[in-house]
Amino acid sequence: MRPKISVLLPSYNEAGNIEPCINNIIKILNDTSHEIIVIDDNSPDKTWQIVEQIHEKNPRVKLIRRMTEKGLSSAIITGMNSAEGEYFFVMDADMQHDENLLPVMIDHLDKGSDVIVGTRYANGGSTGKWSFLRKFLSIVATSFAKFFLHISISDPMSGFFGIKREVYFKNGENINPRGFKILLEILGRNGNGLKVSELPFHFRNRLHGETKINNSIARSFLVAVLDLRFGKWVSSTFLLYSLVGLSGVLVNLLGFMFFESIGVGDLNTGIKFLPVFPISVFFGIELSIISNFILNNYFTFYETRYEKWAAVRGFIIFSGVSALGMFVQLGVFQLMSYKIAPKFGLGENFETRFFCEMISIFVAMFTNYFLNSNITWTVNKPKRFQ
Ligand code: GDD
Ligand code: MN
Repeated sequence: MRPKISVLLPSYNEAGNIEPCINNIIKILNDTSHEIIVIDDNSPDKTWQIVEQIHEKNPRVKLIRRMTEKGLSSAIITGMNSAEGEYFFVMDADMQHDENLLPVMIDHLDKGSDVIVGTRYANGGSTGKWSFLRKFLSIVATSFAKFFLHISISDPMSGFFGIKREVYFKNGENINPRGFKILLEILGRNGNGLKVSELPFHFRNRLHGETKINNSIARSFLVAVLDLRFGKWVSSTFLLYSLVGLSGVLVNLLGFMFFESIGVGDLNTGIKFLPVFPISVFFGIELSIISNFILNNYFTFYETRYEKWAAVRGFIIFSGVSALGMFVQLGVFQLMSYKIAPKFGLGENFETRFFCEMISIFVAMFTNYFLNSNITWTVNKPKRFQ
């Protein structure tokens, strides 16, 4: 017979935590039929060995040891696909999630909820000892999800939730295994029809080991939100790239204004047709190229970023692409305004030139994007992805 509850514990290097964590859960679920499945990605600290030993004595504790696959989201999917319970619960294997909540969560599912989420952000919940940056990023990412996906629960990034078996399998085929979070995927794609409730809890501090999740998680989360919302029409990488591009325009302008205000003046080159060189314009452009590179490297193309000194090489390639983009834009502008526009009877006035400028910016932007995403940021292998 099926157990009522399957608790899924993804683990990576949790040797100091896994046994007390499992014991706490067993104590709480004592009277409820259950299984506990640890999905371990062959942890170097041998977490899996501890689970093997527990399994010998208590077959309700099971181990899935993955030798090649890695990553938190896919570990949870692996666990769910082999779980036998009526209700699936996902928890950290490090005791940060309060197991005392489980009976109340089960109650919610019994009473008709499809999904029950342990939240750190509602009244009565808290994040524990997190750095200011992590708190800030987590809140920004959560607000994005609420805004773009119209999710009403307060903590869609939570790693602590329960879901009914049939709800998971009904929506399971839609879940993107590289996707950021099962919960977000389910809420984002199928949220409307589902009854989702939440319960506040205090996120405990870690006793052993360290977090595997860094600040980039907020970025991965944002990407997942954009994919869910706009993925049908446009790639999330392109959206991030455009966002960075927009910020570049601002930097360009600010740089220009700064160098104008300190009065760098113009340079007289003595060249016949272009005798004066506007230094502040040049610095504005250069500053925006630098800031675009940094932001694209650590934000847009984070998985294939250049690190440390390699960034210099990346910057040189990026500058080359930017220069090429400039020629493309100039060329398209010339073609548009001197060859094409007259054919359509458009006079040589400001409106026409503005229109041609817009088109040329657009073409150059796509060319640059194409080159940057296919050349500049394909040099490096993708880094481990959550
Ligand atoms: N199998 C497997 N593979 N497990 C992993 C991996 C992986 O690549 N990465 C992390 N884990 C396990 C950890 O061992 C832990 O049990 C759980 O997944 C969560 O990782 P933590 O390192 O404990 O994350 P956290 O506590 O800092 O982050 C919390 O907040 C996140 C963002 O809101 C957790 O609650 C996360 O679940 C949550 O997504
Ligand atoms: Mn944790």
